[in-house]
Amino acid sequence: VDAAGQARFDELIAADSRVEPADWMPEAYRRTLIRQISQHAHSEIIGMQPEGNWITRAPSLKRKAILMAKVQDEAGHGLYLYAAAQTLGITRDRMTQQLIDGSAKYSSIFNYLTPTWADMGSIGWLVDGAAICNQVPLCRASYGPYARAMIRICKEESFHQRQGFEILLALSRGTAEQKAMAQESVNRWYAPALMMFGPPDDASPNSAQSMAWNIKRFSNDDLRQRFVDMIVPQAEILGLTLPDPDLRWDEETGHWNYGDLDWDEFREVLRGNGQANALRVATRRAAHEEGAWVREAAAAYADKRKRKVA
Ligand code: 3HC
Repeated sequence: VDAAGQARFDELIAADSRVEPADWMPEAYRRTLIRQISQHAHSEIIGMQPEGNWITRAPSLKRKAILMAKVQDEAGHGLYLYAAAQTLGITRDRMTQQLIDGSAKYSSIFNYLTPTWADMGSIGWLVDGAAICNQVPLCRASYGPYARAMIRICKEESFHQRQGFEILLALSRGTAEQKAMAQESVNRWYAPALMMFGPPDDASPNSAQSMAWNIKRFSNDDLRQRFVDMIVPQAEILGLTLPDPDLRWDEETGHWNYGDLDWDEFREVLRGNGQANALRVATRRAAHEEGAWVREAAAAYADKRKRKVA
């Protein structure tokens, strides 16, 4: 171990300063950042699929244009995050390989299917809403490239959340069938969105170390609670009910108590047995294989340019 390096690193963390790619860092710090940032990047890229499913079937040109813009944003978020992970020494190819061979994790939420248009509203309002709660604190993560990527991503995420809320508001104020479609969708997305924040704190093996290194600023349960407190009043404005009979205001704590979540379902989804795990990985693999000729052409062109210059 490089004692001087460790001392400098400890000082940076104690002073809540930023660690940059050229700084010495403990191998375990590097490894957990590669783990979290690559999974975050995979989440953004896989997250394009549930919504991509509705681009050709959006109910109007306006909705189609907004959805295309959002899916393109997610691709960009994935690229920022892969680039941030690469500053830690892992290559883009290796991360892509881990995703298409099914060994990489990505957010559980994207293994749920999107059978109705209202799911585009629930994903924007609930999934992007949860992502905002989880990502805003990450703007202050101790690793510079990750924090800076987050600042850019959070600006675009708030547009994603607002357009989802607006889709549900339009449906909820529409015909009885449209309101029923919005309610049925929220019924399916509420609990999986709460599970996005990760297992309960007493079952979260990475949290203590991540918090000690100023990567994770708040615990999984704290952020989950913040999210529930945010969506309860929003659901009232939408005129939709959250599918949780145990939801109740707690005067003591000043928070909304919510019902137990199905952690067996969560573990099954992480094990690859969700509704759409195989579909999501197969779709990503097919896109990678079909895109091989573009990568080869770009590489050949870059070599030609290099030879010309040399
Ligand atoms: N989906 C898949 N895996 C999950 C998970 C989820 N929702 N929640 C936790 N896990 C995994 C963890 O990765 C860890 O496994 P690993 O050690 O093999 O990586 C295990 O379950 C135990 O969880 P921990 O709480 O100990 O792990 P972390 O300390 O890493 O906390 C986390 C999990 C809160 C998701 C954290 O990794 C994190 O904040 N990641 C960055 C944010 C992120 O990925 N958000 C995804 C949101 S979707 C998105 O961003 C797209 C948006 O634009 C819609």
